[in-house]
Amino acid sequence: MHIVHTIAELRSHLAPFKRPAFVPTMGNLHEGHLALVRQAKPLGDVTVASIFVNRLQFLPHEDFDTYPRTWESDCAKLQEAGCDVLFAPSEKELYPEPQTFKVHPPAELADILEGHFRPGFFVGVCTVVMKLLSCVQPRVAVFGKKDYQQLMIIRRMVQQFALPIEIVAGDTARAPDGLALSSRNGYLSEAERAEAVQLSTALKTLVAALQAGASDIATLEANAMASLSARGWKPDYVVARRRIDLQTPTPGDALVVLAAAKLGTTRLIDNLEV
Ligand code: PAF
Repeated sequence: MHIVHTIAELRSHLAPFKRPAFVPTMGNLHEGHLALVRQAKPLGDVTVASIFVNRLQFLPHEDFDTYPRTWESDCAKLQEAGCDVLFAPSEKELYPEPQTFKVHPPAELADILEGHFRPGFFVGVCTVVMKLLSCVQPRVAVFGKKDYQQLMIIRRMVQQFALPIEIVAGDTARAPDGLALSSRNGYLSEAERAEAVQLSTALKTLVAALQAGASDIATLEANAMASLSARGWKPDYVVARRRIDLQTPTPGDALVVLAAAKLGTTRLIDNLEV
């Protein structure tokens, strides 16, 4: 695997290739990221991953400074997964001056759910993704469904800016008990890790009720929130939304259920398509 730290090195290394397939990450890689790399591999003629912890998508009180940076093991894992090029720019390389030009996704997509609880998060995500796409110029980019709203917003961004990039969705990788893999799972204590599966359990219960024909979505959502709260979680939301734009569903829409909740000091998110 070829490791590059500058945009110039990246461009010169990718020059001979016609169809780069790209997986952006913030490092601290787990099996979920590696599955995305393996999924990207047959889609292009060179597989590129990036590691960049993007300050712009963290709120001041969030974990930018303590976000796990695990460079050596990340490189070994990417190499093993078959990544050809790792782009790991410094902050000075990607943001040599304050990034005052930003991508502002529309409020109806970006100020709901994650964006409601993390104001500005999707401005930070869209801005860095646009910049990474401009550096790598991939033909295909793979994003995990674990960050369902992020995937939806990036799809729309790429479509509306007419970028010649196919956005491919990767399934959420899960631990054997059902917990969605996340870089933030490492923050959980042993007891919290045992409890953490309850988030996906709450979503599964919601999916089962919807599949059984329950139609009072507001009550199902409230019950799911209450059962998590009763176990000591602090849920931000547990909702059923339509897949296409995460708005309140109307009958016949394809649905996804999504949840975000804090367990101790760790905020976890998950979702399941119905
Ligand atoms: O999903 C992530 O890890 C990040 O939001 C991304 C897409 C790499 C942008 O920083």
